Amino acid sequence: MYRIPYKRYSFRVLFYAYEKLKMMMSIALSLHLLSAVIWVGGMFFAYVCLRPVAAQLLDPPVRFTLWSRVFTRFFNFVWPAIILLIVSGHGLISLNGGMSSVGKHVHIMLALGYLMFLLYGHLFFASFKRLKLAVAISDWEDAANRLNSMRKLIGINLSLGLITIVVASGGRFIF
Ligand code: HEM
Repeated sequence: MYRIPYKRYSFRVLFYAYEKLKMMMSIALSLHLLSAVIWVGGMFFAYVCLRPVAAQLLDPPVRFTLWSRVFTRFFNFVWPAIILLIVSGHGLISLNGGMSSVGKHVHIMLALGYLMFLLYGHLFFASFKRLKLAVAISDWEDAANRLNSMRKLIGINLSLGLITIVVASGGRFIF
């Protein structure tokens, strides 16, 4: 009697494929969440906790130098976090079967995520680079303007980040 040769192995093949998929999803989602925590949590600490205290206690030259150095360190972590968010996010979408298979909450997360990346790009290349320059040449008036624009952008991005987390985690039950 004719037998299809691969039929004997099909269950095992499917089982291993499923286990591999689960492992990849687990790694991608963990990296995704760690990146979001580092980026959004860092903005929360800077905006909500450090900013009011630094404004109260420190004179402008020390305060601007502090922010320039704090942001230099923080942004060293934000760049890898953003790259990981994008790569793991798109990886999760592919593993879930593509854009047409994922829920609306993922579409909203993707749109808000890219808006956040764009704002961060502007914050980094326009405001932060000039803040560093102003601090290096002790131009405190310019430093104050640059820090002020960074404050606004971080306020917007922090709000978007918190909304994105709510949509990403609770959205699947609503959309
Ligand atoms: C390129 C942008 C992004 C893409 C493509 C993306 C994609 C995804 C996908 C596919 C999931 C799995 C959703 C599910 O299984 O229901 C997910 C989960 C999640 N994402 Fe994103 N994401 C992006 C940006 C962001 C950003 C910027 C944040 C936060 C600031 C974020 C926070 C989360 C959270 C908290 C979850 C976990 C949801 C849960 O499992 O309960 N994502 N993301």
